[in-house]
Amino acid sequence: MPTFPFYLLDDNNKQEKTIGISLSCCGIACCDSNKKNLDARVKQEDIGSVYDRIAPIYDIWGKLTESKARDRAIELAEIKDGQSVFEVAVGTGLAFYEIVKRNPNGENTGIDLSKGMLKKADRRVGRLSEANYSLNIGSAFNLNIEDESVDTLVNNYMFDLIPFEDMDKILVEFKRVLKKDGKLILVNMTEGERFGSTLYDFVYNISPKTMGGCRGVKLADRLQQQGFNVEVREYYQQMLFPSEVILAYK
Ligand SMILES: C[S@@+](CC[C@H](N)C(=O)[O-])C[C@H]1O[C@@H](n2cnc3c(N)ncnc32)[C@H](O)[C@@H]1O
Repeated sequence: MPTFPFYLLDDNNKQEKTIGISLSCCGIACCDSNKKNLDARVKQEDIGSVYDRIAPIYDIWGKLTESKARDRAIELAEIKDGQSVFEVAVGTGLAFYEIVKRNPNGENTGIDLSKGMLKKADRRVGRLSEANYSLNIGSAFNLNIEDESVDTLVNNYMFDLIPFEDMDKILVEFKRVLKKDGKLILVNMTEGERFGSTLYDFVYNISPKTMGGCRGVKLADRLQQQGFNVEVREYYQQMLFPSEVILAYK
């Protein structure tokens, strides 16, 4: 199988590493030896500004490649009016709108690192006639709320931006704020399992920021290790983009 070398440059145009690209039966396969364990390459301190820039066009991407997984997450969340629901990394509010709509008398809180994304979320959710919610700048590493105060915590397409070594810190924080038997709904870009899904690893390897810093991750085992009870893990692929949807309980 022919393999062609590609030289990846870091932000200072220094050669970072070399990957081989081969033509395989399923199109282009990225043969980076780290393929199954790509780590985060956009620093957390840069995420706010990266997503401020992406905010104006994010919904197009979100609807084309992520809507099936996001819709399934809302279905699994089974939000009942009156609950306390917390969405971490709320983005432009694509899921938050559905949450607030289903929970007009409950408590709905969304946080994100990007002002630009939050502004769009506020505009979207503000269109609801009955809307009880708050949106704030905040980080998944420190949720700034009381222990055991949340019925359902939703977090979509954020762990794919988090370095592996930091993931457990966030899961510990999620566990802290969830009530006993509280529900955790997670959606992530995941490792591709079907035809063509490695395309996005290929793009990420060349330019992580083009992918908004997202690479495929798998969270179910890690959740179990942190003491969550994983009830559902489903794989979705839309426009070749691979996602996992997870429902777990504290
Ligand atoms: C790919 S977008 C997903 C947005 C939204 N959850 C959705 O599904 O449409 C990733 C979002 O995660 C946010 N984010 C990344 N790291 C975060 C952190 N540590 N705390 C809070 N938000 C974070 C980014 O600012 C961005 O809005």
